Amino acid sequence: MGFGKIIALAVSVGLVVCFVQGGPSKKEQKALEEKNNWWKNEVFYQIYPRSFQDNDGDGIGDLPGVTSRLEYLKETGITAIWMSPIFESPMVDFGYDISNYTNIHPEYGTLDDFDALIAKANELGIKVILDFVPNHSSDKHPWFAKSIAREDGYEDFYVWENGTLLENGTRVPPNNWRSVFSGSAWEWNDEREQYYLRQFTYAQPDLNYRNPAVVQAMDDTLQFWLNKGVAGFRIDAIIYIYEDIQQRDEPLSGTTSDPNSYDYLDHIYTKNQDEGYGLLQHWRQLLDNYSALNEGPLRIMMTEGYAPLTKLMDYYEDAQGVQGPQFPFNFDFITELNANSLAADFVFFIERWLIYMPRGHVANWVMGNHDNPRVASRFGAQSVDAMNMLMMTLPGIGVTYNGEELGMIDYRDISWEETVDQPACEAGIDNYKWISRDPERTPMQWSDEANAGFSNASATWLPVHPNYKELNLRNQQQAQRSHYKVYQSLLKLRQLSALKNGAFIPEVVNRRVFAFKREIKGQNTLLTIINVKNQTEQVDISDFIDLPNRLHVLVAGVDSEHRAGERLSPEAIALAPYEGLVIQLSKRK
Ligand code: NOJ
Ligand code: MG
Repeated sequence: MGFGKIIALAVSVGLVVCFVQGGPSKKEQKALEEKNNWWKNEVFYQIYPRSFQDNDGDGIGDLPGVTSRLEYLKETGITAIWMSPIFESPMVDFGYDISNYTNIHPEYGTLDDFDALIAKANELGIKVILDFVPNHSSDKHPWFAKSIAREDGYEDFYVWENGTLLENGTRVPPNNWRSVFSGSAWEWNDEREQYYLRQFTYAQPDLNYRNPAVVQAMDDTLQFWLNKGVAGFRIDAIIYIYEDIQQRDEPLSGTTSDPNSYDYLDHIYTKNQDEGYGLLQHWRQLLDNYSALNEGPLRIMMTEGYAPLTKLMDYYEDAQGVQGPQFPFNFDFITELNANSLAADFVFFIERWLIYMPRGHVANWVMGNHDNPRVASRFGAQSVDAMNMLMMTLPGIGVTYNGEELGMIDYRDISWEETVDQPACEAGIDNYKWISRDPERTPMQWSDEANAGFSNASATWLPVHPNYKELNLRNQQQAQRSHYKVYQSLLKLRQLSALKNGAFIPEVVNRRVFAFKREIKGQNTLLTIINVKNQTEQVDISDFIDLPNRLHVLVAGVDSEHRAGERLSPEAIALAPYEGLVIQLSKRK
């Protein structure tokens, strides 16, 4: 008998033994399921650490601050957070320019503080996802210094080019590529006498992923944080990770005549290059292997990329079925829908994601983040509860940006002098205001104390929104009804199996109102109904629900005339402007 046959025999004996013993026990099976599926119904709460809680009184949020607020999150019902970058950084792009991938930024604390955060999070049952920024490092990273000096092994860590020397002696960049933020994507370096590629600010040179040493360095980074106990990564700017190897000029987009606008070009060579999928699939493998070999939850990835839908869908899995990140962020509520959208637009974009998503994957709904105006500023302050109802009752994963549970509002009136967001600073005094991301990054409003309870410093890194005296967590905890209480009750509802696994059945009721059911045969159905316009509605949805059914309000918004527990008649549901309701349909006995 050959060696191969002995192995085959041993394997089949093993299988038989397994069979005789009945395979994994029910308990083991359940544990495995929990390990692998924990993320599928999560609400991930994004913390912007610089603005969450300042514990050392320097006016800047920090890790001990986050740790001290974990109890709050637990009480809210949050069981997973993702944190914007906490790593050593010169802070040109507030942490998205990393100078040391495996250390904590000093203003935020130390590695010990991070360990303490993880320990507390574990104790409270909160999983921690870190931001991973692979596209670019800081120009202050030692790798960049070594690359400038052409040190052995670092020469090609970044994307370097000579550019062209014109007859008149001036040097111009190698091609017409533009930075997302401003100007050419090529920055001249006097010392190396070459241009480096930077798709974001001058201080964020793009790493060169065609160099295996770069991939290795990033694998090591992931490994480092996995060993520290994180549950996964939010991957930054993934669609920019590779550029056309031939570095061809990008064609004009034809959508704007302003040559200084990023939209002037159609970014077919600097965004969404197919090689990116392979890199993510590689990281998926790394995380899967780590999860298989270690206790604890499946370590997951979620990716950031504002990209065409079909490109996004290939992240879930490619045409060959190779798995990528667990989910690419769905930004449709930010990019496709706004205060002008009709009810049909909402249903259309929700359905669109669900239809295109490859079978067996999980949807997700991002309501806000640190790069875009807040919900109250995009949809209107009256829409806050309805938008949270929407996010929380759709199938799959919700993603909340800190402060959205309170309905915080952008502080758009930050002065030019106080402005710190780099792209806004580069835009200049006349244009900064609408470009700036500072307005959605102001400190968390915990109470009506000084600096909204965020810090006891004399000045905070960004001003606190002046509305904090009224709009703050403490007020909302004490009030009979508040955005916070609505948010909290929605998180509780998510335990219902109709919301976890129920079918999704939408209906456009009229131009202004839409509804959807979440339904499991034999159980109570949940129905969400939302009026997206500034007009009172009275709608008849009796043809949309299986009669005879009893309708009871489960969650109503802050200003609603309705109350939880109230019985509704399906022929005449009254909705105030921008009102949302979550309703239970129960069979009449
Ligand atoms: C996306 C991040 O969310 C944003 O804040 C940052 O400026 C860019 N990526 C560059 O890292
Ligand atoms: Mg601090």
